[in-house]
Amino acid sequence: MQNDLTKNRSNGQQPAETFPTAVSPLQAETGPAKEIISRVRTTGLHVGFGPREIIHDISVEFPQNQVTALLGPTGSGKTTLLRTLNRLNEMSSGFWMSGRVDLDGRDIYQDFSDVREVRRAVGMLFQRPNPFPQSIEENVAIGLRAHHIVPAPQIHQEVERQLINVGLWDAVGDKLDESPFGLSGGQQQLLCLARTLAVRPEVILLDEPTSSLDPISTQRVEDLVTRLKEKVTIIMVTHNVQQAARISDYIVFLNEGSLVEANWSREMFINTQNHIVEDFLTGRMG
Ligand SMILES: Nc1ncnc2c1ncn2[C@@H]1O[C@H](COP(=O)(O)OP(=O)(O)OP(=O)(O)O)[C@@H](O)[C@H]1O
Ligand SMILES: [Mg+2]
Repeated sequence: MQNDLTKNRSNGQQPAETFPTAVSPLQAETGPAKEIISRVRTTGLHVGFGPREIIHDISVEFPQNQVTALLGPTGSGKTTLLRTLNRLNEMSSGFWMSGRVDLDGRDIYQDFSDVREVRRAVGMLFQRPNPFPQSIEENVAIGLRAHHIVPAPQIHQEVERQLINVGLWDAVGDKLDESPFGLSGGQQQLLCLARTLAVRPEVILLDEPTSSLDPISTQRVEDLVTRLKEKVTIIMVTHNVQQAARISDYIVFLNEGSLVEANWSREMFINTQNHIVEDFLTGRMG
């Protein structure tokens, strides 16, 4: 499917030297615009709370099995858009929306009888790790049971598999009965990721998942995200332009609740024609 947002902007007007050196690997790889096969799509989306409209008429596709970075200045509506993609805003008072959000062609607000099925298919990880106040094992097991992912006798084994998958088993394998609050922030975030992955999501939403983590934990999460895209579609809010350059394939850029630009990352870093996007990517605007 060809997306009209996927323009080939390789007209060479933007000098590459104006971009941070850390993004230079992207600059070496220009080519024709890639086609988008989308898993998640919004159409004419407006979102607000009470009298205030926060998201204005956003139509955008998020490519399947890719990492999309959702960028934009603070207050531009990134979290609000992200939470709309798995119906989490419904919990906020005054929430209203119009337009569509589709997951594999099904409207998540109309075509799913159970909101829990939407949130299973579209998992979310928040800025601060939020483990449940149960044991480490139970944090992962609870979703396995609720969604009947594996038969009861296999739950323990599946918990182990998920903890190995996120690289946490060596640290927690001998204290599964303990509270997760004794773990480091990075370990708690990996546990939350294991909990999210355990229920076999098709899409994962990450809202600044490394902003409270140290550099080593950040790298582990980034490595995991890069590996996970083989199986899931990832949409990640980040304020860190270097992180977007390192791990994103596609960028959706918001400003004041509107879509400014959506494009393959390397195209956007090299060829954006938009001064707001350029100022943001070069660090002139945060
Ligand atoms: N539940 C809510 N009720 C009322 N207003 C809200 C609600 N959630 C968000 N907003 C408003 O929507 C606007 C966008 O907020 P949002 O959190 O989506 O921005 P953001 O781009 O994620 O910002 P940041 O980068 O600081 O996290 C802000 O003005 C915020 O005050
Ligand atoms: Mg936010």
